[in-house]
Amino acid sequence: MRKIKKNILLLLFVSTIALQTMAADGGRIHLIPEPVSVKEQSGEFLLDKNVSLTTKSGDKQLQQSLKWFSQKIQKTTGIDLNHAGGTKKMTVVINQRADTSIGKEGYKLSVSPENITLTANTAAGAFYGLQTIIQLLPPDIAAKTAVNNVNWTIPSVEITDYPRFGWRGLMLDVSRHFFNKQEVESFIDEMVKYKYNTFHWHLTDDQGWRIEIKSLPELTQKGAWSVKRTGRWGTFLPALANEKSTYGGFYTQEEIKEIVKYAQDRYITVLPEIDVPGHSLALITTYPGLSSTKKQYSVNSGWRTSPQDDNSLDPSNEEVYKTLDKIFTEVAKLFPCPYIHIGGDEAYKGYWEKNPACQKLMASKGLKNVEELQSYFVKRLEKILQSKGKKLIGWDEILQGGLAPSATVMSWRGMNGGIEAAKQGHQVVMTPWDYVYLDLYQGEPSAEPDTYGLCKLSDSYNFEPVPTGIDEKLILGGQGNLWTESVPTYRHMEYMIWPRSIALAEVYWSPKTKKNWPDFFSRLEYDFARLDAADINYAKSCYNVTFKPSKHGSEDLSLTMSTEVAGLDIYYTFDSTVPDLHAAKYDGSVLNFPTGATQIYAVTYRNGKQIGKQINITKDELIKRSAAERHVY
Ligand code: ACM
Repeated sequence: MRKIKKNILLLLFVSTIALQTMAADGGRIHLIPEPVSVKEQSGEFLLDKNVSLTTKSGDKQLQQSLKWFSQKIQKTTGIDLNHAGGTKKMTVVINQRADTSIGKEGYKLSVSPENITLTANTAAGAFYGLQTIIQLLPPDIAAKTAVNNVNWTIPSVEITDYPRFGWRGLMLDVSRHFFNKQEVESFIDEMVKYKYNTFHWHLTDDQGWRIEIKSLPELTQKGAWSVKRTGRWGTFLPALANEKSTYGGFYTQEEIKEIVKYAQDRYITVLPEIDVPGHSLALITTYPGLSSTKKQYSVNSGWRTSPQDDNSLDPSNEEVYKTLDKIFTEVAKLFPCPYIHIGGDEAYKGYWEKNPACQKLMASKGLKNVEELQSYFVKRLEKILQSKGKKLIGWDEILQGGLAPSATVMSWRGMNGGIEAAKQGHQVVMTPWDYVYLDLYQGEPSAEPDTYGLCKLSDSYNFEPVPTGIDEKLILGGQGNLWTESVPTYRHMEYMIWPRSIALAEVYWSPKTKKNWPDFFSRLEYDFARLDAADINYAKSCYNVTFKPSKHGSEDLSLTMSTEVAGLDIYYTFDSTVPDLHAAKYDGSVLNFPTGATQIYAVTYRNGKQIGKQINITKDELIKRSAAERHVY
């Protein structure tokens, strides 16, 4: 008896030491998004050929998800989980009586050295639990091909988990640059890992119409194609005489059905966006009669419009509603999502003001201004969508002139549109540009591919979707939005999405009370190993120096430097020599440029190793920035 007690004490001592050692190297559990509750235990489950995956549930979707999971495991580890009689069981249970503590998308996961039990109310919840199991395995599990010589262990743990928001989305603009079916499916695969559930597909814009509409075949014969231009977006020339428009593409309805099914199998709802009445040049190029000026354009290949192209549909033209009815009839049939996004953003209304038919319509309907005319247009679309069994969602400009009675608002010009809509009792999806726009610079701009604005990883992580005083129930959730003007390839798309969308996934899933930047960042660095294993491109901009210049009137420029990540050392020079460990180490104080110095070079190190890029920046550039608003470059 004494001996057993002694052994137990020894075991406890050893396992305490083991757990402490794990904690010292960052622990064994690095989940993103952070679950509601994680109770780590000593010991581990070894995933090997003695494991069989079982369920008693006949749920078809669950069967499909288990097949997905075992194929993923087999591809990377070579282990076949689909055999009866394994000595160790991985059991998936769908509750007969719902466990109200985890809701529709939650799960409970129990891992011991002998068994794994995953319990959920729905197949979706079980699918999220499977994602968690994958993240509990060593990072090599993310590889797309077989990996040998890895001990596939899963730490013993008890997890209870469910999302904070029901709408956790990523938006992809496929108009500015077209991404093919296989690329869209890869994008969906990448979303799944972080428990996203909504894919917002921006299918139309001035730069291309991407969805086949069978009753309007010209839309993709003409509207899907522009001339190819390479270089700096916004500076390109329109099509020259005799130049053929051969760049672009579109999805056939068959492809769309396959993508929707692909997403559905992964518990992702596809929200289609048809952006009207503005951003409609591809539609107007195809049917010039639908704009106020009826001018013939070519599909925009990346020029800035000055003078303004007439890219807005004419709200006084009944043909516009007939055309949109045809489009939405087909869109509604293709997408099971209860919503259709009608855009509504940035519509130029100058030609409406000059259009006698618009003026006549406004007089007859008592519309006081062009904002109310836009509201009239959106309300008509609301009726068209309702007739097809769909709900309308639009960008926050749909508030102008009066919100359509049942509209949901996607707030992008900050939080105010969302706040106003919620105060009127409408539902809201929060996507304020300075926290969730994935096309913006994600670190020191001079070290980044050319774009505009600024949204750092920590900005995304610090996003709080529910404004003070607003009923949380009206905030459905949020998204990360990737506009692709300056994103011509899939590889670069990944660079812009990751890691900011990892931070956003945590914002939308994890409890607000668990928000903790240093903790998130240490888990993220572990996740970088998963991204490396999967050969996914991601930005390491968070390791670069950030400069904060200040200058008041005739005062000379002063400067502080910082990093988003704790524990980095900054080295710098003013004499145009390469800064390394032997250069001046930044101590956090305010710096002034030495007389005659015109630039500063700075770099970050961690534990004696360079980790950030060397940034070279001129005093003139810093002076310019000191006068600019935050986030303007
Ligand atoms: C938008 O960024 N124009 C919605």
